[in-house]
Amino acid sequence: MSTILVTGGCGYIGSHTIIELLNQGLHDVISIDNLVNSSEKTIDRIEAITGKRIVNYSIDLCDLAATQAIFEHHPDLTGVIHFAALKAVGESVAEPLKYYHNNFESLINILKCCEAFAVKDVIFSSSCTVYGSIDQLPVTENSPVSRAESPYGNTKLVGEEILRDFIRISKNVQAIALRYFNPVGAHPTGLNGELPANKPNNLVPFITQSAAGLLPPLTVFGGDYDTRDGSCIRDYIHVCDIAEAHVMAMDYLGNGKNTDAYEVFNLGSGEGVTVFEAVQAFEKAAGMKLKYMVGDRRPGDVMAIYSDSSKAEKYLGWKAKASIHDMMASAWKWQQHLMQEA
Ligand code: NAD
Ligand code: UFG
Repeated sequence: MSTILVTGGCGYIGSHTIIELLNQGLHDVISIDNLVNSSEKTIDRIEAITGKRIVNYSIDLCDLAATQAIFEHHPDLTGVIHFAALKAVGESVAEPLKYYHNNFESLINILKCCEAFAVKDVIFSSSCTVYGSIDQLPVTENSPVSRAESPYGNTKLVGEEILRDFIRISKNVQAIALRYFNPVGAHPTGLNGELPANKPNNLVPFITQSAAGLLPPLTVFGGDYDTRDGSCIRDYIHVCDIAEAHVMAMDYLGNGKNTDAYEVFNLGSGEGVTVFEAVQAFEKAAGMKLKYMVGDRRPGDVMAIYSDSSKAEKYLGWKAKASIHDMMASAWKWQQHLMQEA
């Protein structure tokens, strides 16, 4: 059986993708994660859900020699799903060099190793942040990218360019960049989910922690946008749908179905949801009222963005299945699990 390396496998999206890969049963899986934003407890959670235990190598991907040693140790590697990155937008503004160093160096080292060890298939985690503020909705892969709002966003924009330039000259490697919209939710068992190391800035973990009494009431950032209810519109997508897309993208590359050595796909539900609608969906899923207030706009927020993901449907055979209700219900189940665990 071939082996897939998942970098950032102890993190939020990486761990859900490992669960999908193990459930599919076509590959062995290993993880590299230095636990800078996660914990090795995730490996236990993956085992609780799948019944399978995988190995995580706790090394820094910026260390080329250590990364090479893992590739040497696993001659059966055929693909890498590269999730590992730092991702806090605000921190990246405060510490740009930390973000450029970590996110570029780790990507470059992965690509060097894939070339040297002829590991053919690479999937890169990108983001809808590459589109910036855009008027033409929904966004397709042909929509123009724009200057990044933050160093984090820039690591995705330039990361895609690094990948494209490298694939153009690579003898051994082909790649896909997947542009995620807003991944939220947790595994339907409630046994694995997002675990922000610090106070969450993202909407859904803030809602669940606030509802659990761990944080003050939610502030809706701006109620005066030119949208149907005045709040911002986003394309929320269940993390398990995102995970499934990675498995399908790996199969697509592995079976040689790709038309180009480097391709880009949007991963979104295609549905724009306002912040107030997200709050209502949470209230319905959790069966409780959420305290919130409407505050100022958050600097850097785009008013509205949602995806046209028909390219992923056409080529990968992938389509988002979960509803916003499913996303909120699973996120709340995970929050309750965490509270029982504590
Ligand atoms: P996460 O922080 O939960 O997972 C990333 C993992 O990578 C962490 O466990 C961290 O410890 C590890 N890591 C970071 N730098 C490393 C290094 N140098 N060496 C080894 N391990 C390292 O983040 P996530 O939400 O699972 O995101 C996964 C990927 O998807 C990231 O590249 C992120 O930028 C991208 N992405 C995330 C979102 C989102 O909203 N969550 C949206 C778009 C794109
Ligand atoms: N929001 C609130 N209150 C909060 C948190 C968020 O009203 O406490 C609103 C935001 O204003 C936004 C929506 O909820 O309208 C979603 O916000 P998130 O922070 O969850 O997600 P963003 O779309 O702002 O951020 C995403 C990714 C980032 C990426 C960014 C760039 O999470 O990684 O898009 O566009 F950099």
